[in-house]
Amino acid sequence: MSAPGRSQALTPEPFKGEGSPVSAPGRSQALTPEPFKGEGFPVSAPADDTALVALEGLRKAYNLGRPNEAEVLHGLSLRIARGEFVALIGPSGSGKSTLLNVLGLLEPPTAGSYRLLGRETAGLDDTALTRLRGQALGFVFQFHHLLPAFSALENVTLPLLMRDGRVDAAAEARARELLAAMGLAAAAGKRPGELSGGMQQRVAIARAMVGAPPLVLADEPTGNLDRHSADEVFALMRRLHRERGTAFLVVTHDPGLAARCDRVVELVDGQIVGDRAQTQPGP
Ligand SMILES: Nc1ncnc2c1ncn2[C@@H]1O[C@H](COP(=O)(O)OP(=O)(O)OP(=O)(O)O)[C@@H](O)[C@H]1O
Ligand SMILES: [Mg+2]
Repeated sequence: MSAPGRSQALTPEPFKGEGSPVSAPGRSQALTPEPFKGEGFPVSAPADDTALVALEGLRKAYNLGRPNEAEVLHGLSLRIARGEFVALIGPSGSGKSTLLNVLGLLEPPTAGSYRLLGRETAGLDDTALTRLRGQALGFVFQFHHLLPAFSALENVTLPLLMRDGRVDAAAEARARELLAAMGLAAAAGKRPGELSGGMQQRVAIARAMVGAPPLVLADEPTGNLDRHSADEVFALMRRLHRERGTAFLVVTHDPGLAARCDRVVELVDGQIVGDRAQTQPGP
């Protein structure tokens, strides 16, 4: 089931995985389901409580109880272990952003179980959800959503201000160190409007990382960037993963970037139709 008005734009093209250079489709072209044929499906951590993310039979419907009720995620089961680097791919309208919103505790599922850091999230109140979100998750979106009136450094420390009510010297030092790791030491005092698109997105990644979350959820983080900036931003995410052990779940329409992830989960019409590991060349 695709979004009305979007389905005509979908031109199926099989995702081949394993780094094969599937010609780069534009956003309007889709990656088609390819039934998973290999052994070991799904490629997930063993069933234990140490998984970072554990979904069982997760469903999400919009407009529940209204005539326009529509179920978008149809009973997903998925595990993500600590320190994984996972691509989430699939056609437009397949439910990728919806899944990220549910994983990000921004939207409640309508059924099923979602355990984050071993903790069942169903039934948590807003305060508990906010606390868990602040502890467990960082977010990067397609558009950087930086606040234009604040410096890069202030934008990076903002989640800490919201979480802890203040930014102490250690927190500021951590934000500066992250900006430096993003190649932006000299830009700490600059406002977003003074930075290029790629730089803005690198500030957004530093912001996602500032609370040292075990998982960063990134929804088309390079979708708005030119090829060169996209490569640079992606390489920085891989470096953060390698050096800090942060897990990433990255939605992408770019088969070239999906091929550079360690695992590719494919969503079609709200169902996981593929889940495969990929071997990456060394750093
Ligand atoms: N807030 C909402 N209310 C109602 N329906 C929604 C809402 N958000 C998304 N949907 C519908 O859910 C389906 C999945 O949308 P979603 O944005 O998750 O897809 P996507 O895979 O992220 O697509 P894209 O690649 O275009 O970003 C679509 O049919 C969409 O119209
Ligand atoms: Mg989306």
